[in-house]
Amino acid sequence: MKLQYLVILCTVFSAASISVAAQSAQELLDSVLNPDPADATYSSYSSQIYYNATLYNQTPIASTNFDRLEASAKLLLPATAYNYAAGGAGLEKTVAANREAFDLWRIIPQVMHDVSPQRNLSTSLFGRRLPAPVVMAPVGVQTLFHPTGERATAKVFGEMGLPYTLSTATSTGFADVAKANGNNPRWYQLYWPSDDDLTRSYLRSAKQNGYEVLVVTVDTWDLGWRTRDLDQGFFPFIRGIGVQIGLEDACAHEKLGFNPLAPNATAEQQQMAALYHVITTSRGISPVWRNLTKLRDWWGDRPIVLKGIQSVVDAVKAVEYGMDGIIISNHGGRQIDGAIGSLEALPAIVEAVKGKITIGFDGGIRSGADIFKVIALGADFVQLGRPILWGLALQGEKGVRHVLKSLLAEFDLTVGLSGCHELGDVNSTLLKAR
Ligand SMILES: Cc1cc2nc3c(=O)[nH]c(=O)nc-3n(C[C@H](O)[C@H](O)[C@H](O)COP(=O)(O)O)c2cc1C
Ligand SMILES: *[C@@H]1O[C@H](CO)[C@@H](O)[C@H](O)[C@H]1NC(C)=O
Ligand SMILES: *[C@@H]1O[C@H](CO)[C@@H](O)[C@H](O)[C@H]1NC(C)=O
Ligand SMILES: *[C@@H]1O[C@H](CO)[C@@H](O)[C@H](O)[C@H]1NC(C)=O
Ligand SMILES: *[C@@H]1O[C@H](CO)[C@@H](O)[C@H](O)[C@H]1NC(C)=O
Ligand SMILES: *[C@@H]1O[C@H](CO)[C@@H](O)[C@H](O)[C@H]1NC(C)=O
Repeated sequence: MKLQYLVILCTVFSAASISVAAQSAQELLDSVLNPDPADATYSSYSSQIYYNATLYNQTPIASTNFDRLEASAKLLLPATAYNYAAGGAGLEKTVAANREAFDLWRIIPQVMHDVSPQRNLSTSLFGRRLPAPVVMAPVGVQTLFHPTGERATAKVFGEMGLPYTLSTATSTGFADVAKANGNNPRWYQLYWPSDDDLTRSYLRSAKQNGYEVLVVTVDTWDLGWRTRDLDQGFFPFIRGIGVQIGLEDACAHEKLGFNPLAPNATAEQQQMAALYHVITTSRGISPVWRNLTKLRDWWGDRPIVLKGIQSVVDAVKAVEYGMDGIIISNHGGRQIDGAIGSLEALPAIVEAVKGKITIGFDGGIRSGADIFKVIALGADFVQLGRPILWGLALQGEKGVRHVLKSLLAEFDLTVGLSGCHELGDVNSTLLKAR
């Protein structure tokens, strides 16, 4: 190795998370340049990037900055797909509010704490120990963004031991996603069908394929006023993308009187089955609170989580109705234009129900520092949406891995640089409201 590289590398890696006490120079270099994978921390992803850049002249496969990541995905994707993911309801004021809410909080760093060499970001969610409080948000129609779609995201979240949530609007079926995900935690997100037979059938398939937690999305029983999609007349489900669960479901076949995936099925039958799935899962009739007793009967005592909570009243009701968790979310600003930013809802809900129910959060997380703010404000876990999709769009599985590792690395660094060793140290005393 050329001397100049060594000098650069030593400079770059001096901040790496390794113990320096009584270590020979050779040991120090080995532990940084060739770490045992078991010792590799999330934050060491930056060392890997600098190392590759210096030795192989190879920069990261996609930007580590969200805005630049999205800009490159936009260049690559068809306008319909890009707008479907980037867009929100109406004037997209809620999409913007989700971001603005993060800017209302700033982190107060604390220094010279005993936080190295390795932070402990692990947590327990619904009886599972996880390496970090990070979950894949349910995102439908992923083959719009890359042909490998849900398989790629489910594979990478599985590799990292972080839960993958399969959407009812998935373009890949229960079994195929389970196979890609392997022996790792996975959740199923329900768009609650208007027909109980279908609901029972979906829940049965979810259980059979090892999905452990039921996430019930309660804010999208009808589609919001999505101006970008309306202007393009773009609705992927009518085109047969994002209806795979309906196409594969045995109960749906019975109701339709045919199997749309049979080799002799006609194009009209496939179209009809696709429409049937869309209409039964978002026909414009909201489920009501007392309906939850049915889901509890069918799902049993496994965890049920309501996604799409923004009000304290609803959070308290979720506790009363025996739910195991809530996800504070406004669907990424895709449902009500002019609604509050999701992070604005968090502090009061934490105040009301923390400890009584598991609290998840999504909406506007674009960096590891954002994850830190959400955990500091009292959420038990976060969900990642659009950043992961842009990674998928750009590079499939590799892009998802890069974006996920980047977010985890920055989160890990932010925890450490703020003087925290584990999640229990990350609380709102480290934040200042602007
Ligand atoms: C393209 C796209 C598809 C989505 N599909 C679903 C879905 O099928 N089910 C669901 O509950 N939420 C869905 N969501 C909402 C996400 O689960 C999550 O609430 C949202 O993406 C969070 O906002 P963020 O991505 O801006 O951080 C979708 C979001 C996007 C961007
Ligand atoms: C570094 O390069 C190696 C070999 O090309 C590759 O396997 C690895 O994924 C790269 N890591 C990063 C962070 O780019
Ligand atoms: C990490 O922290 C969790 C609680 O936050 C604790 O239960 C666990 O034992 C810790 N792990 C280690 C290795 O210290
Ligand atoms: C397809 O084949 C099945 C079984 O052979 C039959 O019942 C069905 O009617 C056929 N469908 C069409 C559209 O021909
Ligand atoms: C919810 O309950 C109401 C009345 O009790 C019923 O009319 C409706 O069909 C139920 N909806 C679902 C999805 O179970
Ligand atoms: C917040 O966390 C710090 C450690 O980072 C701890 O010293 C402090 O007691 C905690 N405060 C509260 C209110 O929990």
